[in-house]
Amino acid sequence: MAVGVADVLAIDGGTPVRSRPWPQWPVFDEAEEQAILNVLRSGKWWSVEGTKVREFEEAFARFQDAQFAVCVTNGTAALEVALRAAHIGCGDEVIVPPYTFIATATAVLAVGATPVFVDVEEESLNIDPAKIEEAITPRTRAIIPVHIAGCPADMDGVLEVARKHNLLVIEDAAQAHAAEWKGTKVGAIGDMGCFSFQASKNLNAGEGGAVITNDPHWADQVWSVHNVGRVRGGRWYEHHVLGSNFRMTEFQAAILLCQLQRLPDQTERRTRNAQKLTELLSQIPGIRPPRPDSRVTRHAYHLYIFRYNREAFGGRPREEFLRALNAEGVPCSAGYVPLYKERVFVNRPVSNDLCQRSMLKDYSKVYCPVCERACAEEAVWLYQNMLLGDEEDMADIATAVAKVQRAFTK
Ligand SMILES: Cc1ncc(COP(=O)(O)O)c(C=O)c1O
Repeated sequence: MAVGVADVLAIDGGTPVRSRPWPQWPVFDEAEEQAILNVLRSGKWWSVEGTKVREFEEAFARFQDAQFAVCVTNGTAALEVALRAAHIGCGDEVIVPPYTFIATATAVLAVGATPVFVDVEEESLNIDPAKIEEAITPRTRAIIPVHIAGCPADMDGVLEVARKHNLLVIEDAAQAHAAEWKGTKVGAIGDMGCFSFQASKNLNAGEGGAVITNDPHWADQVWSVHNVGRVRGGRWYEHHVLGSNFRMTEFQAAILLCQLQRLPDQTERRTRNAQKLTELLSQIPGIRPPRPDSRVTRHAYHLYIFRYNREAFGGRPREEFLRALNAEGVPCSAGYVPLYKERVFVNRPVSNDLCQRSMLKDYSKVYCPVCERACAEEAVWLYQNMLLGDEEDMADIATAVAKVQRAFTK
């Protein structure tokens, strides 16, 4: 049978399905420009004198269904601050999933404690509550569920185990602004929640982070740790706990106040497009689109992660699929490796802390099969800005995936 011109893969010299650019990120206009200029001209560039950080903390807490928010320098710092606020340190274990950004686990190391990896669920790639209990020891102090890709973790399951064993729950919501579990936004469903406002995130100031909570005790502790151990209402040179300077600037908060205004519409658009894309990809053999749990009332779609089954693609490995799809003009990647396979863990994390050194695990023995398969063979990531387009953009993605599928099975 003759191969049509349109069927020749771009990677083999054919015409790509798409050559138009994808929606630009970040999105901004005169509102952001004016907001930055206002801070600049005020001369009040830090939160101690200005009002923008405080204004954003109030707005973001309200938006995220929480009572309190404390802004910090970035999402990694948010995790460290939350852990320090809870006095988690050497001798303590913290349960984390292996399918996440490195900071979820290295923040635990940074405070002197030991991360313990628990595998993820097949469907959501979030921590599997059914596997947490077997990882709990007398040293376990906390669980960090991550809402990966913006899809809420099973918070009912996590909280049930946490309550039973008296463990803290610190949500890593770095990718999950606006995401909802059973109608409540994530972050303050557990004890504390950590967000990132780094450049790729759905709420973005280049860099930035926040810890949110409903508990005034945690709010005060977090505030102290992020402000070199000061206490609210205390004197300038009065330091009660070991903290550091994790304060956000007024410039970041000014941008975030504008970006927060845009977030509800952008979230709606991502949801609509993700639903359309799921409908289209469902029709292609060997592709499994994300199917959020029915208790997920809002997936934030920071990433759109679908699964690739090489059996339906002529046995071709995912890496070949990724190369072909990228060549068709659809940016995509394989995403994470299981964190315990990163060198920082395999070689045993170097620690100057004698206590911590004695506590660290031999991470080369860890094996989380669901995570391993997703990382090595199945996961395909698309990015949030692609979901800010329209139905035609979603059709381009599906057309390109179907073209590769046909070509691989010829
Ligand atoms: C799941 C997760 N946790 C933590 C972080 C750390 O955030 P940041 O890059 O702002 O330090 C990120 C961001 O990349 C993330 O995706």
